[in-house]
Amino acid sequence: MSTTMSFRSSLLRPLAVAALAFGLAAPALAADGHGTPKPPREEWSFAGPFGTFDQAQVQRGFQVFKEVCASCHAAHLFSFRNLAQPGGPSFSEAQAKAVAESYQVQDGPNDAGDMFDRPGRLSDRWPSPFPNEQAARASNGGAYPPDFSTLAKARTYEVGFPGFLIDIFTQYQENGVDYIHALLVGYEEPPEGFALPEGAHYNKYFPGHAIKMPQPLSDGQVTYTDGTPETLDQYSRDVTAFMMWMAEPHLEARKRIGFQVMIFLIIFAGLLYFTKKKVWKSVGH
Ligand code: HEC
Repeated sequence: MSTTMSFRSSLLRPLAVAALAFGLAAPALAADGHGTPKPPREEWSFAGPFGTFDQAQVQRGFQVFKEVCASCHAAHLFSFRNLAQPGGPSFSEAQAKAVAESYQVQDGPNDAGDMFDRPGRLSDRWPSPFPNEQAARASNGGAYPPDFSTLAKARTYEVGFPGFLIDIFTQYQENGVDYIHALLVGYEEPPEGFALPEGAHYNKYFPGHAIKMPQPLSDGQVTYTDGTPETLDQYSRDVTAFMMWMAEPHLEARKRIGFQVMIFLIIFAGLLYFTKKKVWKSVGH
């Protein structure tokens, strides 16, 4: 009797340890403690090993950024000339120049030692809406609208076990854009009994739910010229794709070169194998 018991417990022990470990990890799995749901996974043209940006979408996203988000959010790594680079919105140089010239940029000092404003050039950085962080906070109820330059790659959400392992194999890398899209469409009325701090707005996907950014987009707000539906969901997708390009302008090149390197390595491995056979041919086993 006691031998069977100890046999059984020795079998069960690893299971018990695994269960305990899982139990400890479980709170982390169940969202992030604020009852924040996981953002749904969306379809993105740039996902997967052969992903590329949808040029028309990124151009629309730029329009949304320029007309809506750029009045609060800066993008200090972004220059007008980037608009004409391949692998993104890929505007013509003349179009990018026209955008640049529609902004006034501070330059100087001139010979008299004064700063002056002049129309933007391709080499200029995207002008920030506020002169400094303090001014940005003062206008936004104390919250700082984060810089867009790398935001799509800087934001993510907890996937937990075993999802994060599966994601490695399915090459899921769109956590940031899924979160931002969900955030933009995730404004709701606060549930009964939720104490919303003053100046904050309830968002289903924002950790803690109280966000200082008022809902930036709504149906029909931006006029598209290519017949794409002017809906909140569409705007959110487009601007998020644009933010992804901004955060990783060389994404297409990275994926293309990555694939070429894999092909090269496979061929190279074959060559090495036959070279090895030839070099050692005359040596007996
Ligand atoms: C009226 C000003 C304003 C506008 C317009 C605005 N934002 Fe914001 N945004 C903010 C502020 C303020 C925050 C910081 C919120 C906080 O920390 O509570 C923020 C935060 C964010 C965040 C980060 C959320 C996080 O997880 O930290 C994202 C993403 C974002 N905004 C996207 C956008 C997009 C996309 C647009 C344009 C469609 C936009 N915002 C337009 C003020 C604005």
